[in-house]
Amino acid sequence: MQLRHTGAAMDYETLKISDVEGVRWVTVNRPDKLNALNRQTMAELDAAFAAAADEDDVLAVVVTGAGDKAFVAGADISELNTLGPVEAKEFGLRGQAIFDRIEGMRKPVVAAVNGYALGGGCELAMACHLRVASSNAVLGQPEVKLGLIPGYAGTQRLPRLVGRGLALEILLTGRNVTAEEAHRIGLVNRTCAPEALTQTVNELLKAILRNGPLAVAHCLEAVRAGTEMAFEDACLLEATLFGLCASSEEMREGTAAFLEKRPARFR
Ligand code: COA
Repeated sequence: MQLRHTGAAMDYETLKISDVEGVRWVTVNRPDKLNALNRQTMAELDAAFAAAADEDDVLAVVVTGAGDKAFVAGADISELNTLGPVEAKEFGLRGQAIFDRIEGMRKPVVAAVNGYALGGGCELAMACHLRVASSNAVLGQPEVKLGLIPGYAGTQRLPRLVGRGLALEILLTGRNVTAEEAHRIGLVNRTCAPEALTQTVNELLKAILRNGPLAVAHCLEAVRAGTEMAFEDACLLEATLFGLCASSEEMREGTAAFLEKRPARFR
């Protein structure tokens, strides 16, 4: 399914899009199905992130779910039920590519986890750079209960976030992870009362967006690409990006502001 890469004005069937002070809020909008990701939703997420990447006015992206019950309760099980093996592999590869696009964004992406984040929902949250969970959030990878394994890179991102032993326990039991535990094990960055979720996300983004945007983009790239490389290669990547920073107005302004004892003015 190909969708045009256009901005907030595009008509999405399963997403709601709104822009608030440079932050694009992408809300998965199938509350009657607990925001389960069907093919249409996945294609629209892909288009929405392509648009957000292209638009200079968009400084950061937040992903959340409609309603007060779910972030995303997984891939749509009614679609999974009919897949054959070749189709299922394609289904996984396509979903992985879409979530890779999210992780590869050069603008910060935050998951505002406002309820169930199971299966593909947990994988979507893990593809985001940062995660804030409301105290009623429930995360997990219950695929084994369906005779499946995660297909959108959950077997890879979960161990990278929480460590192999804990990831295996969560994957093999398919058990729920509460917001409190998710915070303790590093699966989410912050947790808060449900009514404070928007404010907590905004505060986190404010603390990021006051910094040099190019430096933030380079940090995202160094961590994303670097953690998958040999240490020496990753250090070379870091040095190259550090060098690129030194070619920017942003670095002149940031360092000059420190020396002149004034706040930096980044564009
Ligand atoms: N795919 C498709 N539909 C889903 C879904 C999913 N992953 N998760 C929930 N839904 C649908 C339900 O079928 C139901 O639709 P219906 O009203 O047409 O029957 C609706 O969303 C509400 O879900 P329901 O199960 O009635 O809500 P609940 O509060 O009793 O339970 C959950 C909530 C999250 C515990 C339960 O919906 C669930 O286990 N979902 C599947 C989670 C999962 O295995 N995800 C991984 C998929 S790979």
